[in-house]
Amino acid sequence: MAVSETLHVPEGAPREEVYRALLPQIQSVISGVDDLIANLANVAAILKAAFDFHWVGFYRTTAPGMLTLGPFQGPLACVTIPFDKGVCGAAARTRETVVVGDVDAFPGHIACSSLSKSEIVVPLVHRGTTALVLDIDSDRKDDFGEVDRVWLERVVALIKAQHFPD
Ligand code: SME
Repeated sequence: MAVSETLHVPEGAPREEVYRALLPQIQSVISGVDDLIANLANVAAILKAAFDFHWVGFYRTTAPGMLTLGPFQGPLACVTIPFDKGVCGAAARTRETVVVGDVDAFPGHIACSSLSKSEIVVPLVHRGTTALVLDIDSDRKDDFGEVDRVWLERVVALIKAQHFPD
């Protein structure tokens, strides 16, 4: 088995330090694995284990303008999200990361869980269209900022480099 089954997460460290420690571990876990779903499942598990976010997972574009639930960790989630709905749809449509500090103030937010208070959605853009999005929900307001955006975009870039080369 080439992949370490133990995740090394610096304890009590600032979030940026945790992301910095995780990135090479994510690369090592996904490299050499051809199956996208398997890799999305492990990335969701790694982010959930490291930060204990309320919900961590992926939605994949399965038809033009339509997202379908992929591998995730956390409570039950909505199965389909059109590009014109919700935070996930906004990120998929604009092909930009969307950070929402207060989901109740976001028009069209889809409340899969009433415990979700803030959210970040990072799209993986391949040849001009969104192939999938990474969605993370927190049970605390204003839990995501620039550090999360920068590092989660790097996580998505690792998945893109392996599964969606230009
Ligand atoms: N809140 C998301 C829907 C997905 S769940 O959070 C898992 C949205 O508004 O797109």
